[in-house]
Order: sequence, then C-alpha cells, then structure tokens
Amino acid sequence: MADNTTAEKKKLFIKTYGCQMNVYDSERMVEAMDGAGYETTDTPDDADMILLNTCHIREKAAEKVYSELGRFKGLKAEKPDLKIGVAGCVAQAEGKEIMRRQPIVDLVVGPQAYHRLPEMEAKTQEGAKALDTDFPEEDKFEKLKRRPKAKRAPTAFLTVQEGCDKFCAFCVVPYTRGAEVSRPVDRVITEAQDLVERGVREITLLGQNVNAYHGTHSSGDMTLAGLIWELDKIDGLERIRFTTSHPNDMMDDLIEAHGTCSKLMPYLHLPVQSGSDKILKRMNRNHDRDSYIKLIERIRAARPDLMLSGDFIVGFPEETEADFQDTLDLIKEVKYGQAYSFKYSTRPGTPAAERPLVDEAEANDRLQRLQALLSTQQKEIQNSMVGREVNVLYEKAGRLEGQMVGKSDYLHAVFVADPKGKVGDIKRVRIVESSANSLGAVLV
Ligand code: 5AD
Ligand code: SF4
Repeated sequence: MADNTTAEKKKLFIKTYGCQMNVYDSERMVEAMDGAGYETTDTPDDADMILLNTCHIREKAAEKVYSELGRFKGLKAEKPDLKIGVAGCVAQAEGKEIMRRQPIVDLVVGPQAYHRLPEMEAKTQEGAKALDTDFPEEDKFEKLKRRPKAKRAPTAFLTVQEGCDKFCAFCVVPYTRGAEVSRPVDRVITEAQDLVERGVREITLLGQNVNAYHGTHSSGDMTLAGLIWELDKIDGLERIRFTTSHPNDMMDDLIEAHGTCSKLMPYLHLPVQSGSDKILKRMNRNHDRDSYIKLIERIRAARPDLMLSGDFIVGFPEETEADFQDTLDLIKEVKYGQAYSFKYSTRPGTPAAERPLVDEAEANDRLQRLQALLSTQQKEIQNSMVGREVNVLYEKAGRLEGQMVGKSDYLHAVFVADPKGKVGDIKRVRIVESSANSLGAVLV
C-alpha cells in the first residue's frame, strides 16, 4: 500500500448521486482512501481511480450508471491502470451484474461494506476484480479512519442511523440499505465534537428513518430526542437538524424537543407520500391522512413557526383522480414550505412492482398539477418572511461585494449585506426582499 506521507498521492474522482446520506458516505470513502494514498480530484481525466456513489431510489438509476460508465471506456483504454468502481445502492442491487455488463468496472462495493474499500483497491492493483455487497457484522463507522483534523465548512452531515424496517410498498431502501441500525450515542457524540473542533456549527443528523433512532447509551437505549439533548451540551455547536422521518416514529419527547431545545431548528421533513387513505394503505404506510394531520397539529402546537417539508408520490398503482385530489387537499390544509415530489416508478422486487400502473400521461399531468400547487405554496411562505427577523449561518461569500450567503433557521437561502461577515458567523437579520429562490436581508 502507498505511504501517504512521502509518496506522491494518487488521484480519486468521486461522483455522488442521490440523498444526503450518499454525500456523507462519499466523504467517509474519501477519508478511507486518504489512508490508502489517494487525494481527490475534480475531473475524471487525471484520476487513478473513479468511483460512482450511486442511488437506486427511482427509475432508470441503473441505466444512468451504465451510461455514465460507458463514457469512461475511452479513458480506461488510454490508461489501463485506471481503476473504476461503483458504490452505493445500485452497487448493492446489481452486484456482479455490473461487472458482467460493463467489464471496465474493477470494483463494486455496497453501502454497508465501504470500510473495506482500501483492501479492495489493493486487490484491484494486483489485477483482480473486487466485489463486496455484504452486510457485515462489524461497525463500518468504527473501522473507518477518523476524519482528519482539517478545518471544514460550518455545516456538516452526520449519519446516526441506517436502513429501514418500514417496507413501504414502493421503496427499495429496506433491500439496498438493509435493516434499521442505530449508531451508539458515544460514537455520534465523539464525531460531533470532532466536527465542532474543526469549525462546524450546524449538524444535520441523517438516517433513512432517523426518528426511529435508538442508540445504545450507558443509561440504556436513547431516542433521537435523547441524542439531540446530548448534542445540545456541545459548546460551539449551534444548530441541530435531522432528516428523514416517518410519521409513526414522531415520539412525544421529539415533539416536545421542538418546543424546548433552542439548538433544534424549526424545520421538519416529514413525508406523507399521499393524502388518500386508500393509497396510504396500499403503500403500507401504516398511518392515515387524519392521523398525519393531527400529528402536524401537535408538532405545531409545540413549535408554532415550524417549517414543514414533505415528499409526495403521484401515480402510485390504482391512484384515481379522486385519490389525487385528496393529496392536493392535504397539501392545502397542511401547507409545506419545501417539498419533493415524484412520479411513481416501479422498483423491481418491491411489493408494488406487480401492480397495474396509472396511465403515463395521466401520471405526468398529476405531477405537473401537484408541483404547481406546491410551488405556489412555497412562494407564498417564502414571501411571508419579508419583514421578519431570523438568524442566518453564513456558508460563503455572495457574488456582490460585501455580501454573505447562508441559511436561515427555516433553511431558506438568505443573502445579507454584511461587509464584516465571515463564513461560520451566525447573524440576526431582517428579511427585506423575496426573489426566485432566495431571500435578501440586512443586519439588525
Ligand atoms: N417511485 C417514486 N418515488 C419514490 N420514492 C421512493 N421510492 C419511490 C418510487 N418507487 C420517493 C419517496 C421517498 C423519497 C426519498 O423518494 O417520496 O420519500
Ligand atoms: Fe422507504 Fe422511507 Fe418507507 Fe423506509 S419509510 S420504506 S426509507 S419510504
């Protein structure tokens, strides 16, 4: 293995698709490969290793990966020593098939096995192919090298929980990420402290079903709210967020924390997927429209200014126009400041995959109508921020002289005129204008 202190470093090009957890995983893979003598590069052209960290959540994911791989054929022909790897959920779902369909691939690693990446890379250097899509017993996060002590951006992701036991009828996550596992509390705290020492002021706790978190702790199992209160004690950590949550795991202590923990930001991503009881049942969501609405009322009672975000699927098998109208009605009732909406796509191996599809043109039309409603609503909520005072965490300098850009407590992008501002500052500002995708503000 290369000595990463003296030898010239090799170059790793990593491309990340999909969710925030993949962003976090890519970061950890980069750190693991740092130990194997690699540094990152922004272009595949000068890479010694190309790694695609893939997502399998929606349609044509695997096809996109194959076409991306096809583009590296020329590069591999010019540079036979170039190693090409596929990581993430497509790697998990396709396994060996990837190497069969695209022989330029040297390495395939699933999301639960990437701590073994350095050994796998060493194997490819000997001319062999390396495949690992196991769900090993050992804790990959413990096996991974710690994040190096370099200074970093003021916001960071931290994975605390992985996998899902909910088995929504449309979703591949329980198959690609496996059963639900929570990281122990002390390991999360150590990682958070390390991030804060390096300049991080806001941490977003990640998990496919993060509010089902139940990490071991000396006091017994701890809930997500318990973990948030532990993080609350870290000096220098100013903001805590978490994503993604399932309505059925929104426990009382977490709802209460939204009202009482000042570091917990007033923003909640709580997907409902559909507003029709019939469809929710067929999706195996195990909650109905009414229980979701009542839940939102309880959370808003604890934190009246909470900004809500959601995920929606249209065109789920057997969704009628009336079912779709139920979804529109629910959106009008709940009001979302942010939302992600998708046309249903069949995921092989999931229960819904065998069911009759909604007509394609009809599904497209519903998606358009849904998105029109959501964007009107988001715009109204964004415009209603004008005149209000909020806190902004600066993430970078703006394009204009003396301007900083960051996120409000509610996750709106905000431009602030602040010539003395520095990245990492949290400033109190007054919103003075609302433009297409951001707000403008002045210091108060
Ligand atoms: N088709 C469409 N959307 C899907 N999602 C998950 N699986 C599918 C699918 N098969 C959406 C859900 C989920 C988000 C991450 O992706 O809305 O909350
Ligand atoms: Fe997928 Fe989320 Fe349902 Fe789990 S709760 S199966 S991750 S949609």
